[in-house]
Amino acid sequence: MQKDIFIGEVQSGHYDGQKIELKGWVNRSRGSKKIWFIVLRDSTGRIQCVAKKDTVGEDIFDALRGALIESSLIIRGIVNVDERSEGGHELVIESAEVVGPVNPESPFPITESAMENADGGETEFLLDNRHLYLRTGRMTQMLKIRSSVFGAIHSYFRDRDFTEYQAPCFVAGAVEGGSTLFEVPYFGRKAYLTQSWQLYAEAAMPALERLYTIAPSFRAEKSRTRRHLTEFWHAEMEIAWGGNSEVMQHGENLVRHISRTLIDERESELSNLGRDLDLIARYADNPYPRMRYDEAIETLQGMGVAVEWGQDLDYSKEKVLTQDFEVPHFLTHYPKIAKPFYHRPDPDDPKYVLCHDLLAPEGYGEIIGGGERTWSEKEILERIDEENTPREPYEFYIDVRRYGGVPHGGFGLGVDRVCSWLSGADHIREVIPFPRDSRRVTP
Ligand code: 4AD
Ligand code: MG
Repeated sequence: MQKDIFIGEVQSGHYDGQKIELKGWVNRSRGSKKIWFIVLRDSTGRIQCVAKKDTVGEDIFDALRGALIESSLIIRGIVNVDERSEGGHELVIESAEVVGPVNPESPFPITESAMENADGGETEFLLDNRHLYLRTGRMTQMLKIRSSVFGAIHSYFRDRDFTEYQAPCFVAGAVEGGSTLFEVPYFGRKAYLTQSWQLYAEAAMPALERLYTIAPSFRAEKSRTRRHLTEFWHAEMEIAWGGNSEVMQHGENLVRHISRTLIDERESELSNLGRDLDLIARYADNPYPRMRYDEAIETLQGMGVAVEWGQDLDYSKEKVLTQDFEVPHFLTHYPKIAKPFYHRPDPDDPKYVLCHDLLAPEGYGEIIGGGERTWSEKEILERIDEENTPREPYEFYIDVRRYGGVPHGGFGLGVDRVCSWLSGADHIREVIPFPRDSRRVTP
């Protein structure tokens, strides 16, 4: 039962005056005893279809009248150009069949008014019915934008000879600190869900030199915020023979490439969501400034924000800092005490590490974290001991330094956060089909 024609193509004028067959779902319907209008939707758009009882006969007419919202249909008819219809076209029905009906006792629960209140009182209801909410226009557009973001990340790295590489999800130790580790019972032992691909990527760095992935990472974030998920999609890269500035340049180029790709591929979805395309063009076309952590702290203190040197910046601070940024900014040289053990201390001043976060404007904040790795055996052992971390789970990691260590580095980009920022979403859960947070693993 192949499908040949999509509604988007009909609305683009490819079938004017022709007899065609459409397959889709009822989006809305109304009419009288003699004429019935159905707005049919598929993954590419919507089109009004009109059935006259005299033309289609009583059986088909009654079947169409009984087809409730989200019933699936096959419709055959003639495409008419009609200025007054949505998209400029209308299908005059000659015959039709209902493929999958909807039971009148349990009509499709997602109503227009629930959707208008998506971020208000109906939030939990819509999350409970996420599997159905996905079919509504807003989610469909978000998912298409998301797909282009994934495609842009793959093309960026593949066009530059990076090898895609996979690391395990079950691991024995933390990458980003113990407080957000998910513990999993593992045949009488404890395992954890990975927070990052990084340590296993470093192990393959001498083999592949330039590598990347897009994979889920897990963080046991107890608080529910606009930018945290417990399962998020993480695009990570690692390069041999490179330091903080080379890695940062890749981060900047990647985010600009993603922005450009969205303008090329998702102009209409972004406009439908009310996103200003000039903003995205600005993010694609301009360089991203670099600023040291100390300067950011001074700026925040100057704005009257209570923040102390040595703290990692949380959302409340990044929000204030980035509100007036015109483009994303890199913050570099965080204090060593604010970052995990793998960051390389700055040889010029070991109070700091050679690292960077990329902060998105408009109050969105951190989308990338990365930097240069501690790459000699002596330094990594010092850092691990300093943090009172047991060495045992990291023996494989230390071996990377014991056998021909080289300067190297990489970053991790939160794909959901980038989708949220570029689509202008209010909340990170708007851009992922089945969001996971501390209170929700269903549906
Ligand atoms: O800054 P993070 O913790 O850095 C790392 O995991 C490094 N090991 C990456 C590397 O160098 N290979 O996480 C990287 C990015 C953050 O900047 C953020 O965009 C995203 O991952 N992220 C989250 N996104 C959604 N929900 C969460 N709970 C996230 N935690 C981190
Ligand atoms: Mg970070």
